[in-house]
Amino acid sequence: MTDTKSGSPMLGRRSFLMTAAFAAAPIVSEATLAQARLSNIGVPPADAVLINANENPLGPSKAAIQAIADSAPWGGRYDRFDAADKLIATFASQHGLKPENIIVYAGSSEPLHYTVLAYTSPAKSLVIADPSYESAMLAANYAGAKIHKVALTGDYAHDVKAMVAADPNAGVIYICNPNNPTGTITPREDILWALENKPAGSILMVDEAYTHLSEQQDVLDQVAAGKDLIVLRTFSKVYGMAGIRCGMAIGRPDLLDKLSTYGQNPLPITAIAAAQASLEDPNLVPERRKYIGDVRRETVAWLKANGYKVIGDSQSNCFMIDTGRNGHGVIAALQQHKVYIGRIWPVWPNAVRITVGTADDMAKFRVAFKTVMDGPAYAAAPAPAKVSSITPSKAGGGVFLS
Ligand SMILES: Cc1ncc(COP(=O)(O)O)c(C=O)c1O
Repeated sequence: MTDTKSGSPMLGRRSFLMTAAFAAAPIVSEATLAQARLSNIGVPPADAVLINANENPLGPSKAAIQAIADSAPWGGRYDRFDAADKLIATFASQHGLKPENIIVYAGSSEPLHYTVLAYTSPAKSLVIADPSYESAMLAANYAGAKIHKVALTGDYAHDVKAMVAADPNAGVIYICNPNNPTGTITPREDILWALENKPAGSILMVDEAYTHLSEQQDVLDQVAAGKDLIVLRTFSKVYGMAGIRCGMAIGRPDLLDKLSTYGQNPLPITAIAAAQASLEDPNLVPERRKYIGDVRRETVAWLKANGYKVIGDSQSNCFMIDTGRNGHGVIAALQQHKVYIGRIWPVWPNAVRITVGTADDMAKFRVAFKTVMDGPAYAAAPAPAKVSSITPSKAGGGVFLS
C-alpha cells in the first residue's frame, strides 16, 4: 500500500498516524528564513532586486517549462504512476546508484527535516558548522537534541576533525557543501575522513543543494559504496525550480527507511516532469554553472577592487561580505534602494549574505552597495517581527536567527 518512493498518496494507516503525530514539527526552508526577514517590511516592490534567498533568477529551463505545460492537464490526478519511478531510474543511472537508494520529495527541506528527526534525540546530538544553513538546528531543537556548533576552518571549510570530536553521542553530523551562507567548499577527502572516523551510530547528512555550482566531485559514490550517509539534493538551485519543488534523499535503503516513518506529501506531477526534463539536458548544468560563476566572479572582483572584504572563496550562488558594521543596518539601508539581500548569522553580526542574481541584478547591487557603504553606518534595524513564529515552541524564542 505504501509507496514512499514515488510519492503515491497510498500511504498506509501506520504511516498516516506517524505523520499526524509529527505534524506539529515545522519544516523550515530557505523561503521561510528569507521571508521571516521580510515580514516586518512587507512585499518588495515589483522592480526590487531579489538576491536574498539563494534562488536562481534564470528559473526552470525551457524544456522544463514545456514539460510542466505538457503535464499540467494531468493535474486532476495525484500521480502519473510511473513518472517518479522514471525520474529515480534516470538519476540512479546517471550516478551509479540503485533506485532503492533514492526517495523523491517536494524539495529537500522535507528529507532534511526528517533525517534530523530520525537520527537525533535527547541522547543523540546534531553537529553543525557555524555559520551554516540553519534548518537542521530547528529540527534538532524540535527533537530535543543537543546542538554542537563548530566554527569553520581558516579556509571556511567544515572543520571535520573538530566536528567528529564534538560529541561521541552525535546522531547527525551535517555537512553543507558548498556551504550556505559562505559558498565555500569542504574538500571531498575531508568528508571521506569524517565518514571513516565519525562516532559509532552516527550518520553524515551531506547537503549537496549547491553542488552543481562547484567543480568539486560529489559524494554520491559513498552511497553506492554503502557508507553511513544521507545525501540531499534539490532542484531548487541550479535547475531553478524553487517554486516548483523537487528534491531527493539519497542513501542506503536501511537508512532511508527511517525517513519513511514520517510519511510524505504527494509530489506535484509538474515538478516530476520538470525535474525529468532538467536531468535529461546535458548542457543545462554546465551552462548555468558558467553563467552564475561568471557573474559571481565579476561581482566579487569588483567588491575586492573597491576595498570590501569578501569572506572566503565561494564556489556557489552566494557569498558573504564582512561589512565592518552592523549587518542589519546594511540590509535595511539596501532595502531603501530596492535591493534585498540575505540575512546575517549571529556568529558574524557584521557579515551579510549575497545571492548571485543576473548580471543586471548585480550591477544594481553594486551601485546600491557603494552608496550605502559610502554613507553613515545605520543603527541596527529592528529584529524581524515574525522570526519567533517560525521557531519551534521548544526552542525558547528565536535563538538561532538574528
Ligand atoms: C543548504 C540548503 N539545503 C536545503 C535547502 C532546501 O531547499 P529546497 O527545500 O528548496 O529543496 C536549501 C534552500 O536554500 C539550502 O540552502
